[in-house]
Amino acid sequence: MSTQTNEQGTQEPRDVQKPEERQGMASAVISPLPVEVFMHRAIELAARGPARGLNPQVGCVVLDSNGAIIAEGWHRGSGNPHAEVDALSKITADQAAGSTLVVTLEPCNHTGVTGPCTQAIIDAKVARVIYAATDPGHSSGGGAQTLLDAGVEVDSGILGEEVNEQLHDWMRSAKLGRPFVTVKWASSLDGRAAAEDGTSQWISGEAARERVHVQRSESDAIVVGTGTILADNPSLTARTPGGELHGNQPMPVVIGERPIPSDSLVYWHPHEALVTGHRNIEQTLTELRNKGVRSVFVEGGPTLASAFIEAGVVDRFYIYLAPVLLGGPKLALTDLGISTLTERLNLKLIAMELLGEDIYIEAKPAKPAPPESRATRESSDVPAAPAAPVAPTTTAQPAKES
Ligand SMILES: NC(=O)c1ccc[n+]([C@@H]2O[C@H](COP(=O)([O-])OP(=O)(O)OC[C@H]3O[C@@H](n4cnc5c(N)ncnc54)[C@H](OP(=O)(O)O)[C@@H]3O)[C@@H](O)[C@H]2O)c1
Repeated sequence: MSTQTNEQGTQEPRDVQKPEERQGMASAVISPLPVEVFMHRAIELAARGPARGLNPQVGCVVLDSNGAIIAEGWHRGSGNPHAEVDALSKITADQAAGSTLVVTLEPCNHTGVTGPCTQAIIDAKVARVIYAATDPGHSSGGGAQTLLDAGVEVDSGILGEEVNEQLHDWMRSAKLGRPFVTVKWASSLDGRAAAEDGTSQWISGEAARERVHVQRSESDAIVVGTGTILADNPSLTARTPGGELHGNQPMPVVIGERPIPSDSLVYWHPHEALVTGHRNIEQTLTELRNKGVRSVFVEGGPTLASAFIEAGVVDRFYIYLAPVLLGGPKLALTDLGISTLTERLNLKLIAMELLGEDIYIEAKPAKPAPPESRATRESSDVPAAPAAPVAPTTTAQPAKES
C-alpha cells in the first residue's frame, strides 16, 4: 500500500478518503440503515465522555453481519479504555470476529496509558472499520494504515465535519502539538499598557472587561508573568459583571523566576496555580499540554506577551484599544527581536468592532505559528497526567480584581 505525507507530516494511506473527499458520496452499505445513523449514535456516545482534558471524546458502535448494533462504547478520559476497546470488551470473540466497527475518530496507533486500538481491532478479527475524523496526533495517528496493512477494510469521512466540530479544541491542540495560544492586551490608542507609575486598572471600559472575562472562561489556562502578579496581584478568575464566578475557570499560571508572595490572590483561585519558577515558555506549554490544557489565554504583561510572540507560539491576538492617550515608557509590547522592517510580524485581521467606547480587534499571524519540533511532541495520551481544570464553582472571590 502506498502512503502520502499530510500537512502535519504524518504518513497516510492513499486510498483512505479524507472527510472532505467524502462530501456528497453515497453511504457505505453495511446495514439496511445508512451508516450515518450509526455514526450519529457513536457521536452521541462520544459526548458522554469528558469534554476537556488530555484525551478526545470518542464513541463507537459494533455491528454484526446483519448490520445490527451488538455493542457500544465510549472513552471516559485518560487512563480508561479507548472507545473501540470499551465496545469490544462487551462482546465475545466470536461476535467480534467479522464485525464492523463504526467509530468517531481514527483508531489510535500508539501505546500510551492503554495499548494501541489498532492492535485490539486486529486481534479481535474485526472485518471493517468506518471512522469519521482523522487523528492528527503525530504518534497516535496513522491507525488507518496499520489496519489496512493487516487486511482490515477501512473507510473514513462519514460525518467528519460533525466530529471535527465535536473535537474542535482537541483537534486544534493535537495538530499544533501544544495548547492553542491567545495573547490579549488592553492599551491606550498610543499603545501603552500602563501609565508611567505602572497603574493599568482600568484602561478599557466595562464592556471590554466583561468580554475578557468570558474569553478567560473559554480557556483552559490563563497565563501571566511574575511582573503582573507583583504589580497588580490579580485573582485570575473569570467573573460576571456581578462578581460571580463563570462556570468554567481557567487554571492560573505564573511564569518567571522571582518568587511571588504566599498571600497572592492566585492562591485563592478555585484551581491550584502553576507557578513555574522559570521563564521557559516551551517547557511551560509542554507541561500544560501534559495536564490536558488545550487552550491558553496569555494576559500579560508586556514582557511576557512579547516573549510569547518572539517564541513564535501565538495563534491569535485579542487587542482592546481604549480612546485614551498615556504616553510614557509602558508600551503594550516590548522587544520582539525585530530589528528591521522586513522582519516584521504581519497579522491578518479577523474581526474589528466598537465595544462600548473601545475598539476590539481580533487578529492572527499572517502565517500560522509553527508547531513545536516533532521531537518535543507528546502523544495524545500521556501517562500520569493530573486532571484538567474544569470544576465549576460559584463562590465569589475576595478583595481585589484583575
Ligand atoms: N494592559 C494590559 O493588558 C496589562 C496586562 C497585564 C499587565 N499589565 C501591566 O503590565 C505591568 C507589568 O509588566 P511586566 O512586563 O513586568 O509584566 P509581566 O510580563 O507579567 O512579567 C514580566 C516578568 O515575567 C518574567 N518572565 C517570565 N517568562 C519570561 C520570558 N520568557 N522572558 C522574559 N521575562 C519572563 C520575568 O520576571 P522574572 O525575573 O521573575 O523571571 C519578567 O520580568 C503592570 O504595570 C501591569 O499593570 C497590563
